[in-house]
Amino acid sequence: MDWMEVIRTRRSVRTFDGRMLEMEHLGKLAEYIDSIANPWRIPVEFVFLDTEEYKLSTPVIRGEKMYVAAKVPKVKHAEEAFGYAFEQFVLYAWSLGIGTTWIGGTMKREDFEKAAYLQEGEVMCCISPVGYPAAKMSFREAAMRKGVRADHRKKASDLFFDGDWNTPLVSEDPDVAQALEAVRLAPSAVNKQPWRILRTGDKYHFYVRHDKGYSTEVGEDMQKIDLGIALYHFMRFVEGAVSVEDPAIPADENMEYIATVTITR
Ligand SMILES: Cc1cc2nc3c(=O)[nH]c(=O)nc-3n(C[C@H](O)[C@H](O)[C@H](O)COP(=O)(O)O)c2cc1C
Repeated sequence: MDWMEVIRTRRSVRTFDGRMLEMEHLGKLAEYIDSIANPWRIPVEFVFLDTEEYKLSTPVIRGEKMYVAAKVPKVKHAEEAFGYAFEQFVLYAWSLGIGTTWIGGTMKREDFEKAAYLQEGEVMCCISPVGYPAAKMSFREAAMRKGVRADHRKKASDLFFDGDWNTPLVSEDPDVAQALEAVRLAPSAVNKQPWRILRTGDKYHFYVRHDKGYSTEVGEDMQKIDLGIALYHFMRFVEGAVSVEDPAIPADENMEYIATVTITR
């Protein structure tokens, strides 16, 4: 699988062609879900939801016949684990020609939580429609993309740093360079791209740059989900170990340390 190609071409799909997923594709997705893991070893449970059976819909999304939801226990690092796990599903689906859109805000949460049998102590951070992209985007989808500048990404020099927060990171290691580009292209809530990476030696420290007004409730911080997504994109291209050991590097007050990847080869 050319994961860089998958990452480069993926986009959120909000207009579907109205077809149900083929059984073969459903089988492949279900099988793939069994292989999905995350560095925090937090269980992430996926549930497919038929739109007609559960009377489910979300604003902007059109032509969808199915959603996928996922649930995690409400524990520390739940969001990062969720992001890391759910993005595996998103990328694999895209490699099969199946479209998704991460949805954490624009939905009636209670309807999906009920359909997914969410239990006390669990959180369903996000859901996604699953289906085949329509030939043409709806007007609303095109407008939404424009609103969040969905085709735009920040420059690498604004995101990745070497040794301190003033020196842009330019990696000579082709795998790391690819991993950084994969992070840069990742999807994020409202396309905020809150990930920042600081390198010290063979360690890459991941931080979230919080916007004002973010939630501190476990399971509700969308930007920590974004960090889980970024970590997964990075780990696709390097051999490394993820750990949580704050290097205590001074950083702006809106920056929060999330995890470190140590290159192992
Ligand atoms: C954690 C998370 C939550 C998101 N929530 C929503 C949402 O509620 N509604 C929506 O239409 N898109 C949502 N998105 C999709 C982003 O808007 C989208 O990924 C971003 O604009 C970049 O566009 P792209 O995915 O086409 O590259 C979310 C994305 C992430 C990662």
